[in-house]
Amino acid sequence: MSLRKYSGKPPIERVADSLTYLHEKGVIDPEIGIVLGSGLNDFADRIDNPVVLAYNDIPHMESGWVSDHRGELVYGEYNGKKIVIMAGRFHYYESRNMDKAAYPTRVMIGLGIKRLILTNSAGCVNQDFGAGHLMLISDHINLSGDNPLIGKNIDEFGPRFPDMTYTYSRKLREELKKRAAAEGIELDEGVYCMMSGPSFETPAEIRMLRTVGADAVGMSTVPEAIVANHAGIEIIGISFLSNMAAGVLDKPLSGEEVTEAAVAVQESFSKVLDLAIEI
Ligand code: HPA
Repeated sequence: MSLRKYSGKPPIERVADSLTYLHEKGVIDPEIGIVLGSGLNDFADRIDNPVVLAYNDIPHMESGWVSDHRGELVYGEYNGKKIVIMAGRFHYYESRNMDKAAYPTRVMIGLGIKRLILTNSAGCVNQDFGAGHLMLISDHINLSGDNPLIGKNIDEFGPRFPDMTYTYSRKLREELKKRAAAEGIELDEGVYCMMSGPSFETPAEIRMLRTVGADAVGMSTVPEAIVANHAGIEIIGISFLSNMAAGVLDKPLSGEEVTEAAVAVQESFSKVLDLAIEI
């Protein structure tokens, strides 16, 4: 894994370098940004007239930090809207670096997106929900112990103390639930909790999370939501509940199980993304 490209430049200068490269490649004015979660990357193949760029070729982005097999930015049209997709994530657990975890989102903000759709695979904490379901994120709990906005505030990005009351757009959630129901897709709705990972949680931690009000648990999404909310972007969060969280069932969890479970949900996941783009 190369660290060469990760320079000590301030984020605003790094984003400017990335944008120069992307503009040269024709990535111009996307309306919507999407981050695809583990096992959910195939949606990127549905884009019309795609420009596909390896993270490794984009200044200050490195595929070496991505845990999914893809590390590609895909730009193009989908149902007539210009969108940019990040297929592959920089997880916090790769480097204990929130700046890296949030960087692709900062780039999408710089490109001018108005809406960010964050997707992930997550463990199901709420026993009224179930593995295999899709959950709209209504709010989050950040138990990573870190925050991407720590450090000198970049006023060009947003305020020092951003409000987080309306991070996941209520209006879009209501609309999305209505449209999904009309397609026969029932969406759960609940609170996503970020743990740093990469170890899965213990059963005792899952009982604690249930007590503090979490419905799902994962290792991503929160850094991206914090920087996008900071910049005033409207956010939709969709969790694929790939497994019951640790200790709910009397069996161990595995990363493979998470990825394999995602295959079964591709169709309804893609439909919900369709709707989230269309609103
Ligand atoms: N815990 C944390 N992250 C996850 C899980 C889980 O059970 N499943 C998918 N991502």
